[in-house]
Amino acid sequence: MTLLGTASDIKLINDDGLRLDGRGFDELRPIKIEVNVLNRADGSAYIEWGGNKILVGVYGPREAYPKHSQNINKAFVRARYSMAAFSVDERKRPGPDRRSIEISKVVSEALESAIIVEQFPRAEIDVFIEVLQADAGTRIAGLTASSVAVAAAGIPMRDLVVGCTAGKADGQVLLDLSKEEDNFGQADIPFAILPKTGEVVLMQMDGDLTVEEMSKAHSMLDKALKHIYNLQREALSKSFTDVVAQWGE
Ligand code: CDP
Repeated sequence: MTLLGTASDIKLINDDGLRLDGRGFDELRPIKIEVNVLNRADGSAYIEWGGNKILVGVYGPREAYPKHSQNINKAFVRARYSMAAFSVDERKRPGPDRRSIEISKVVSEALESAIIVEQFPRAEIDVFIEVLQADAGTRIAGLTASSVAVAAAGIPMRDLVVGCTAGKADGQVLLDLSKEEDNFGQADIPFAILPKTGEVVLMQMDGDLTVEEMSKAHSMLDKALKHIYNLQREALSKSFTDVVAQWGE
C-alpha cells in the first residue's frame, strides 16, 4: 500500500479493521527489555519496542559538576537523549538539536519525580539514552528503559516510570502509534505515570482529540501501562536472579 497523500486521505486501517502492521486498535507492538547490558555504567538497560532499539546507561549519584550546579537539598537528574546518525531513514546530523533537547528535558523531569533525589544532596544522576534505531515512540521507550536502568543502578526510587503512547490515525483512537500512524495520523500523546500512585509524570500531545476520544485513549493506556510495568519488573528480577545464579557457580 502506498503512503503517498495527505494526512486525511491516508488509509492506515484496512477493510478488516486492522492496522498496517496487523495490530488491533488497542494492541501494543512487541516489547523486550534487558537489564545491565553495559559493564561500565552503574546501571543500564536495552529496550526493543517494535522497531525501536534503545540503549540506556546510568551514572551516579555522583558529586555534581560544575559545583555551581549543585543543589544543597537534592540530586538533579540529567538525561541526555541522543539519536544515532543511522537510527532514522534520513541520516540524522550528529549532536543535539531542538527536538533532542526538548526530549532530554521532559525525560529528566519525569525521572526526577520517580527518584528519591532528597537522599543525595549536591549530587547528579546522569542518564544517557542512545537511540540506535527509531520507529516512533522513542521518548517513551527511552524513558521506560531509563527508569529500569536507574533501578538497576541501585538508586532509590518511589516507583518505576512506565510510559506508552496513544493517538488517532485514520479517524480511529489507537494505542502505541507506529511510524506511519505518527507521521500521517491526527494525534499523538506520549504519556507516562508512576503506577503505584497513578501520578502522571509526562504527557504531551500533538494534534487534536475530542473529550470522548481522549477518554478512550486513556483507558487503552491504562491497560497497556500495567502490562509494560510487569515487563519492567520481570526484566529487573531476571537480572537479579542471574546475578544470584552466578554466585552459586
Ligand atoms: O520518537 P517520538 O515519537 O518520541 O518522537 P517524534 O518527534 O514524534 O518522532 C517520531 C518518529 O519520527 C521517531 O521515532 C523517528 O522514527 C522519526 N524521526 C525521524 O525519522 N527523523 C528525525 N530526525 C526525528 C524523528
